[in-house]
Amino acid sequence: MILSSLSLAGFRNLWDQSIDFSSGINVIRGENAQGKTNLLEAIFMLSCGRGFRTRFDRELIRFGNDFSKLEGEIFSHGRQQTIDIKMGRCVRKQISLNGVRKNSSELSEAFRVVLFCPDDLNMIKEGAKERRRFIDMAISQLKPSYAELMSEYTRLYEHKRRILCDWREKPSLLDALEEYSDFMCRCSAKIIRYRAAYIKKLSMEAGSIHSRFSGNGEELSVNYNTVSTVTDPFAPAVEIYQRLKEHQKSHREAEIASCSVLTGIHKDDLEISINGITARNYASQGQMRTAALSLKMAEREVSFQDTGENPVLLLDDVLSELDPRRQEFVLNRIGEGQTFITCCEDSRIKERTGGQVINVSEGKVSLG
Ligand SMILES: Nc1ncnc2c1ncn2[C@@H]1O[C@H](COP(=O)(O)OP(=O)(O)OP(=O)(O)O)[C@@H](O)[C@H]1O
Ligand SMILES: [Mg+2]
Repeated sequence: MILSSLSLAGFRNLWDQSIDFSSGINVIRGENAQGKTNLLEAIFMLSCGRGFRTRFDRELIRFGNDFSKLEGEIFSHGRQQTIDIKMGRCVRKQISLNGVRKNSSELSEAFRVVLFCPDDLNMIKEGAKERRRFIDMAISQLKPSYAELMSEYTRLYEHKRRILCDWREKPSLLDALEEYSDFMCRCSAKIIRYRAAYIKKLSMEAGSIHSRFSGNGEELSVNYNTVSTVTDPFAPAVEIYQRLKEHQKSHREAEIASCSVLTGIHKDDLEISINGITARNYASQGQMRTAALSLKMAEREVSFQDTGENPVLLLDDVLSELDPRRQEFVLNRIGEGQTFITCCEDSRIKERTGGQVINVSEGKVSLG
């Protein structure tokens, strides 16, 4: 997949302009606070329909403007395609692919990205939520049906949570509890199978990348932890469903007493270890960064294996905190497929990669 060009209007601090990109490595260079990450965010938006640093789309619209517009020319599935996104402060966002209206989750059919940004360290060092977000995003880009299952699960979860919150005021609500729990088990069984299959592939790739990346054969392992009664997450969905029902039944009274949803895939986690030791508690800053990057590179690899096309790699501020040898490893690996990498003036990435330089200064983008 290649992003050939991008037109921007009213997006963050970036000037209204069109930019042509190299199909190989694009080095986005500039001092702090010039708009480098904003440019990556615009590219990310073409794939996910939202920014990666915002909760609200309106934060992406330039201060003082009412509208923002992005247009990307993509080469994927053997043909040129166009993605248009329009955002307004007071109107609904409009997304189209080749002139046909789409929702955000449908964009990844045409354009997929893998992003690594400084916050991705949280995937290793923070709680399970960050790790679930990582795998949910990765699987959703590959399987639109997974994204649908996840929104269904979220909807059911909210219903059940409300029943459990409000039943003391209105005890009749409990009549529907069983039904919602059952729907959630059915939905969870399918989600677990998707997650197990994806994590197995990811773990294999990440392990082999990490051992070369660390240089000393460090062993990275990624295991999937789901509801404790599910002993085989690869079993047929109907079997997993039975196991989930058991767990749910044994927690029914506790759920009612605590007024919260205690059982389900919203508690799943990835157990990430380096040389058999939990990375979250013991890894050094550099080891965590290496592990997070290995997982992201593995995500790209799995995406390539599944679809035959490399997603576009977006690397924001990736080199800081890596020693020179690890930096070389990253720079050597990014040659396959299209890559955008941000850096400050002095990191000599152009010389080290031979990539096309894109200078960003006060929001103005120019080819170097
Ligand atoms: N909606 C917006 N409208 C106008 N300017 C914005 C908007 N959102 C962010 N900015 C500005 O964009 C500037 C550049 O931000 P960006 O994060 O892209 O910098 P950067 O070049 O990546 O810097 P660093 O090297 O520090 O990471 C910031 O100074 C910020 O104030
Ligand atoms: Mg930045």
